[in-house]
Amino acid sequence: MATNTHAHITTWVVAIILFVVALSLLKAGNAKATKIVQMVLRVFYILIIVTGWLLLHNTNYSGEHLLKSIVGIGVIGAMEVLLARKSKGKPTGAILGIFIVLLIVVLYLGFSLPLGIEWF
Ligand code: HEM
Repeated sequence: MATNTHAHITTWVVAIILFVVALSLLKAGNAKATKIVQMVLRVFYILIIVTGWLLLHNTNYSGEHLLKSIVGIGVIGAMEVLLARKSKGKPTGAILGIFIVLLIVVLYLGFSLPLGIEWF
């Protein structure tokens, strides 16, 4: 099973870029382009989950890897909710805060766990 984290890293980096692009398109009022970017972004959500799952399978679903994966899914959920609220014109301050905290936690857990890069 997968032990190489490159594919997983590629998928979440692309997703975060698409997320920022979708947010700025929304801000510019370009609803059609936002929809298209959001559809591609959703494909990348699936790719993040599949590549993460392959890594998780390799760790036998052990505690901290499972926690890392759950927080990862939380990050995806926060991106989706943030875009939905913003497109409806609802306030996004709280969910933006949640997104940033979850992202920091998942990056810390990811880069401190044994597979791939170990920065912390
Ligand atoms: C936007 C969401 C996500 C981000 C930003 C993210 C980030 C990361 C990072 C930074 C790493 C470490 C890579 C390395 O050390 O080379 C990693 C590894 C990993 N990710 Fe994710 N991830 C996300 C979503 C997910 C999801 C949804 C799952 C599970 C379904 C998952 C499961 C894993 C697993 C099992 C590892 C290996 C941990 C280890 O043993 O080192 N991730 N991820």
